[in-house]
Amino acid sequence: MRVAFVGKGGAGKSAIAGVIARLLARDGEDVLAVDSDPMPGLSVSLGLGVVESAIPADAVTEKAAGEPGPRFRLRQGLTATEAIDRYALLAPDGVRFLQFGKTRASAAPLMRSQWAFRQILDGLPPETPTVIGDLPGGTRQPFLGWAGYADTVVVVVPPTSAGMLSARRLAKLATTGPTTDTGPSRILAVVSQARDDADVERIRQRTGLDVIGSVPWDERVLAAEREGRSVLDTAPDSAVVAALTALAERLAPQRAAQRQAALADFPGGGA
Ligand SMILES: Nc1ncnc2c1ncn2[C@@H]1O[C@H](COP(=O)(O)OP(=O)(O)O)[C@@H](O)[C@H]1O
Ligand SMILES: [Mg+2]
Repeated sequence: MRVAFVGKGGAGKSAIAGVIARLLARDGEDVLAVDSDPMPGLSVSLGLGVVESAIPADAVTEKAAGEPGPRFRLRQGLTATEAIDRYALLAPDGVRFLQFGKTRASAAPLMRSQWAFRQILDGLPPETPTVIGDLPGGTRQPFLGWAGYADTVVVVVPPTSAGMLSARRLAKLATTGPTTDTGPSRILAVVSQARDDADVERIRQRTGLDVIGSVPWDERVLAAEREGRSVLDTAPDSAVVAALTALAERLAPQRAAQRQAALADFPGGGA
């Protein structure tokens, strides 16, 4: 499964993606979490705090004038798998974390990182790792290079008019985007920062999207973020974490079914 979380800035992409990545890893998946948003976020919701390291500039080389092919490519001999082994950080629950969008001097400037990002994600073996991508906010950029790898696009929709408008645009771009060769096979939506069921219903009606879950608004998400921590660690028994657990199961129904079967096999387990 290769997921791209998209949505307006502030929608809750990072808050959701980090926790989902860890929950899938707890379920036994090999998870690579990738952050291509220049605004920091994913490392915090993963429980790593604020992380400075990013894909280094020398991971990507520029082709010589007159040489065919794309302008930038991964350094000679560096495969996608090696790039992950070398540059990904280990986050809690065994999630590997790779950051592309940062604009520090030692990190690759945006265009080089975008090439590194595409080549690493396009060069991975088809089944593993599971990729959870936190994409830059806004409506255009995700599909001009960042989201082409995804088989599943999850549009994160907060209950605001701007959030809903941007969700509709994003869903449309995902089906017609210029860089998605085949397009994602699933475009799903998650309601974020929901105050009540009416928010969820309103979003379902106004966007016409396939809403697979909702995450309630909870002060503790913000509080955890202010401390540089994940709500999964600060409030594991909260309704937010329960909602995110349900969401992870809907995203990866096979995993959930396998776990149920394993529980049923276990003496005393199951129903
Ligand atoms: N369910 C929630 N309840 C309360 N605050 C939330 C919730 N989800 C996100 N937030 C807060 O809203 C802000 C934006 O969330 P973030 O995940 O960074 O959005 P994005 O990555 O889409 O820009 C952050 O300060 C975050 O802590
Ligand atoms: Mg973010």
